Amino acid sequence: MDTITLLQPDDWHAHLRDGEALRRTVPDLAKQFHRAICMPNLVPPVKTVEEAIAYRQRILAHVPNGIDFDPRMVLYFTDHTPAEEVVKIKQSDAVNAIKLYPAGATTNSENGVSDIRKVYPVIEQLEEHQVPLLLHGEVTHSHVDIFDREKRYLDEVLVPLLRQFPQLKIVLEHITTADAANFVLEQGRNVAATITPQHLLFNRNHMLVGGIKPHFYCLPILKRQTHQTTLLEVATSGNPKFFLGTDSAPHAQSKKEQACGCAGCYSAPNAIELYAQAFEQMGKLDKLEGFASHFGADFYGLARNTKTITLVRQSIQVPAQLDYLDNDPIIPLYAGQTLNWSLQ
Ligand code: NCD
Ligand code: ZN
Repeated sequence: MDTITLLQPDDWHAHLRDGEALRRTVPDLAKQFHRAICMPNLVPPVKTVEEAIAYRQRILAHVPNGIDFDPRMVLYFTDHTPAEEVVKIKQSDAVNAIKLYPAGATTNSENGVSDIRKVYPVIEQLEEHQVPLLLHGEVTHSHVDIFDREKRYLDEVLVPLLRQFPQLKIVLEHITTADAANFVLEQGRNVAATITPQHLLFNRNHMLVGGIKPHFYCLPILKRQTHQTTLLEVATSGNPKFFLGTDSAPHAQSKKEQACGCAGCYSAPNAIELYAQAFEQMGKLDKLEGFASHFGADFYGLARNTKTITLVRQSIQVPAQLDYLDNDPIIPLYAGQTLNWSLQ
């Protein structure tokens, strides 16, 4: 087998940023994905349907000619999101979901939700209108160890949340632990998860052994290998609860390689090839299409794509760096390493 043809995939979790960054991020993503959930953690965040529509136009202005890219927008949940915004999301053909960042959990989350119980009236509307709630699932208390923050979120926030709102549609974003994978498996069809390429291909040893590698630092942080193994198993199992979300999160080289480096891996340029690499390691390339091209659209209640892409068994080397901002390049995930499959 030297080629694989897939229905065109979608990325259900991507950070494109704004302004000058879009020159790099939009073409990188749009060359492989038809749709992407465009995360709203800009400065200031995208909080209303009107703001999301304006941001979508700024993204569309950077789509190369001849490429059909459909940005799917998401609002940023704050302590002050009005319950009425949910109906506006439901009625909008550009916005598909709302993203909850616990305040302080990650990049640009300062305006996130301080205590989820404060926003239960809005969540009630989400459940009623079946608007997906996208969760950054980590607790933020300073005394909780960074490697335990996802597990603690399941126990302390998600269990009570689902008890109160059993029909709520939830995507647990970028899961990193066996605990989260098993939690999702135990829930009904209304609970799903995205998985990134870095959490399938790497574990914390890659980041910390033999010197600290800031380009592997993302949130939630890479965990131990046993968790990586479980994520590989569920991603390649054909279970529709798990689907593709790169969490491609660009930060310029100077912001990653410093005493206090930013969290995020830039995977967009070779995202589908990175997933192919992981699925091939498991001998499960036949399961890539469901994960990458079917299950996310089905969960969101959107039509599956109709075009296809083809991957060929031809090694390519990921560039050591790419132009990004003025005089400040970006280092992509897998920089300088070889991938077995490439996009035709
Ligand atoms: C993301 C970013 O940089 O916006 N960073 C990351 O490490 N994943 C934010 C996020 O999704 O947590
Ligand atoms: Zn993210």
